[in-house]
Amino acid sequence: MSSQQLTFTDNPNQALSEILATRHGQAIIVADTNTARECLPVLACAGHIPAITLAAGEEHKTAESLINLYQHLVDWRATRQTLLIALGGGVVTDLAGFAAATFKRGMPLLNLPTTLLAQVDASVGGKTGFNFAGLKNEIGLFAPAHHVVISTRFLSTLPHSELLAGLAEMLKHALLDTPDALHRMLNAEPCGFASRPDALEMIRHSVTVKQRFVNLDPNDQADRHALNLGHTIGHAIESLLLERNQPVAHGIAVAWGLVGELVLSRMSAGLNGETLYAVARYVRDHYPTCPITCDHYPRLLQLMTHDKKNPSAGEISFTLLSDIGHYHIGRIISAEDITAALDIFRDLTQ
Ligand SMILES: NC(=O)c1ccc[n+]([C@@H]2O[C@H](COP(=O)([O-])OP(=O)(O)OC[C@H]3O[C@@H](n4cnc5c(N)ncnc54)[C@H](O)[C@@H]3O)[C@@H](O)[C@H]2O)c1
Ligand SMILES: [Zn+2]
Repeated sequence: MSSQQLTFTDNPNQALSEILATRHGQAIIVADTNTARECLPVLACAGHIPAITLAAGEEHKTAESLINLYQHLVDWRATRQTLLIALGGGVVTDLAGFAAATFKRGMPLLNLPTTLLAQVDASVGGKTGFNFAGLKNEIGLFAPAHHVVISTRFLSTLPHSELLAGLAEMLKHALLDTPDALHRMLNAEPCGFASRPDALEMIRHSVTVKQRFVNLDPNDQADRHALNLGHTIGHAIESLLLERNQPVAHGIAVAWGLVGELVLSRMSAGLNGETLYAVARYVRDHYPTCPITCDHYPRLLQLMTHDKKNPSAGEISFTLLSDIGHYHIGRIISAEDITAALDIFRDLTQ
């Protein structure tokens, strides 16, 4: 995979104007209705750049939005030299990334992620795509942005639940990293996180953890599966709540999934209790309470069985930790043990 240039800055307007000054030719911005309102005005230098505004939200991460985007690119006479600038959360960076990789067989892409989750996760690593036939990210391709500019400047308008969502992915990265990194995360109060003097540094560190796994395994065949920590249980809870018309941000479900999978790590991989309890306390203190009950277990197990990450049909596989930074991918766990872990997870967080 070609390498991505990353810029971390307090001044995204200056970073963007410097990038634009090195280029000839047109640029086009892709935003959503929220980032067009909250984030575009931060970029004074982009005043003359045409902007395409997509409908905001996961429910619009669709082929229809993509076709709308292609049509605007045609209308603006975009060429293979046009720089596409994705200004938004993971929905915008995933959709614009797919469009940039496919329109006229490829145009350069600059990601300007505006959610914490997109900054530490979605905008780096090259996965792009959209939802199809009711399945998340069913269509997609690997196509890294040429450049990613990350700035806490955008985070002040982010709703608190979206901040919590991003912090959950940062917690996951810290668990895959070192005790120091985890300690730093567990001491980070979500309220006011974006205005901490070291917020940009914490984000930069989190991105390096993700990049380490991406570089090790760009096509997601083995080691990159470590980044699925918390996501087998997390995705199942996310899907279950969506089915019940109680949708929750992906990252919030990941926070719950992390606790569930650390319980499994304690039961089956020898993780120490101290790490489990510290993470469970953080999630209990800062995140909403997970609304699942034991009546939901059969459906949750069904959803986990159908997870596309499982190596063979009927089995449920996990990334588990034997210690902070020591991961084991593809661990098959029985339905009985998962059920026991869900009970303990609920005890620890409710
Ligand atoms: N490509 C990858 O590797 C990867 C990794 C993780 C997640 N994802 C994808 O990312 C998506 C989730 O990303 P997300 O959590 O950023 O969701 P999102 O893009 O839907 O953004 C969340 C909400 O915040 C709004 N918003 C964005 N920035 C804002 C700002 N600065 N101020 C105010 N509001 C703002 C958005 O309009 C949206 O309503 C999912 O579709 C997921 O599949 C992709
Ligand atoms: Zn995630």
